Amino acid sequence: MERRFAIPALSLLMLMSALTSNQAQARVFDINDFGAVGDGKTDNSKALSDAWNGACHSEGNSVILIPSGTYLLGPLRLIGPCNGRIAFQIKGSLKAFDSPQLGIDHWITFRYIDGLLITGGGLLDGQGSASWQHNDCQKNKDCQELPVTMRFDFVSNAWIHHVTSLNSKNFHFNLFSCQNITFEQVNITAPGESPNTDGIHMALSTNIFIQDSAIATRDDCISLGPGSENIHITGIACGPGHGISIGSLGGSPNEQPVTKVFLRNSNFTGTMNAMRIKTKAPSYQGVVSDITFQDIIVEHVDNPIIIDQQYCPSKKCSPQSSQVKISNVKFINIRGTSSSLVAVNINCSPAVPCTGIELRDINLECDGSGGKASSACANAKGAAYGTQNPPPCLEK
Ligand SMILES: *[C@@H]1O[C@H](CO)[C@@H](O)[C@H](O)[C@H]1NC(C)=O
Ligand SMILES: *[C@@H]1O[C@H](CO)[C@@H](O)[C@H](O)[C@H]1NC(C)=O
Ligand SMILES: *[C@@H]1O[C@H](CO)[C@@H](O)[C@H](O)[C@H]1NC(C)=O
Repeated sequence: MERRFAIPALSLLMLMSALTSNQAQARVFDINDFGAVGDGKTDNSKALSDAWNGACHSEGNSVILIPSGTYLLGPLRLIGPCNGRIAFQIKGSLKAFDSPQLGIDHWITFRYIDGLLITGGGLLDGQGSASWQHNDCQKNKDCQELPVTMRFDFVSNAWIHHVTSLNSKNFHFNLFSCQNITFEQVNITAPGESPNTDGIHMALSTNIFIQDSAIATRDDCISLGPGSENIHITGIACGPGHGISIGSLGGSPNEQPVTKVFLRNSNFTGTMNAMRIKTKAPSYQGVVSDITFQDIIVEHVDNPIIIDQQYCPSKKCSPQSSQVKISNVKFINIRGTSSSLVAVNINCSPAVPCTGIELRDINLECDGSGGKASSACANAKGAAYGTQNPPPCLEK
């Protein structure tokens, strides 16, 4: 599959106008002018931090320029609020230390910023390979956190465009309490043996757009935690990885609902799941509603459609059920191949059954095994329309 990430002329125009709308010219802060050296060996943390402080405190809009070259960088927090909007123009590579840095939760954190652009065609190299063996939180209660490549905490009106994130130590991008963030033509890559390298994770965030991007990791391509609302995902090539997940939910009290999520025009290739909603059992109360998956192609995917309300990865599930209520979930025009026999698996909670599940034009064949694809349902109410392969099993 060939995909291109050229910057369309229109985007360049938008970039220029975004940077210059209030001012004749945005001020440029070239990290080399702050003592940075792009030799792959010098620690440039102070230079970038100084450039940030200059840009953030200057009046009007600013550009922080990372020129061609490989810039080694330690963990850094870039904190606002700033006086104007900031563009991060990454032409070269930012490279993390290759040591695991156990117990540090970030490589680059952006916090309290309104108006941020990250672009330039450059590379974020998380150098994760020495860290992945330490990512044992599934098994080890006392595990230490590993750095997320980019964290966005309390950031609004940001556009992350035309950058590559490679070999993160932990998640590639994490959004917390964000608003109006667009990811576009972002290329996220980590090899198959890298645990927990989710592509983009979000929680407590609204109006998030992720489009025209390729995501290949060993964990979720995109995962949506509590409080994800009005999320639009389109044009994603996901795989390998665990697919796109809502949840897991119900693990904490007072979780905000996950609602108004739209995934469209996307492909899953060789992933463990494609469209998944998972909640713990037992669980606290929670809500998942108004979710649409539409125009999706799956190829050699273990679980193309899966609602799993008995998600208990680290221990045996308790007989107590999940209290997360799932309603109004539509699967429309989903086709391709499943590598397991159960291509549609809708396993809802006996305590709060799923309602308003809609299956419309589903055509999933089994590949490999030669068996016939089937559906499995528990406590799942809804209706099926149009083509149905495998035969549906929803209750009225
Ligand atoms: C994404 O980045 C990786 C690593 O640089 C590269 O091998 C791959 O070709 C890129 N994919 C796309 C779709 O640009
Ligand atoms: C969303 O953020 C973008 C910057 O990425 C900005 O151009 C746009 O105006 C914002 N939209 C709203 C509704 O504020
Ligand atoms: C998904 O696959 C189809 C058919 O191969 C292709 O036309 C389309 O461009 C792909 N979409 C993405 C987002 O990769």
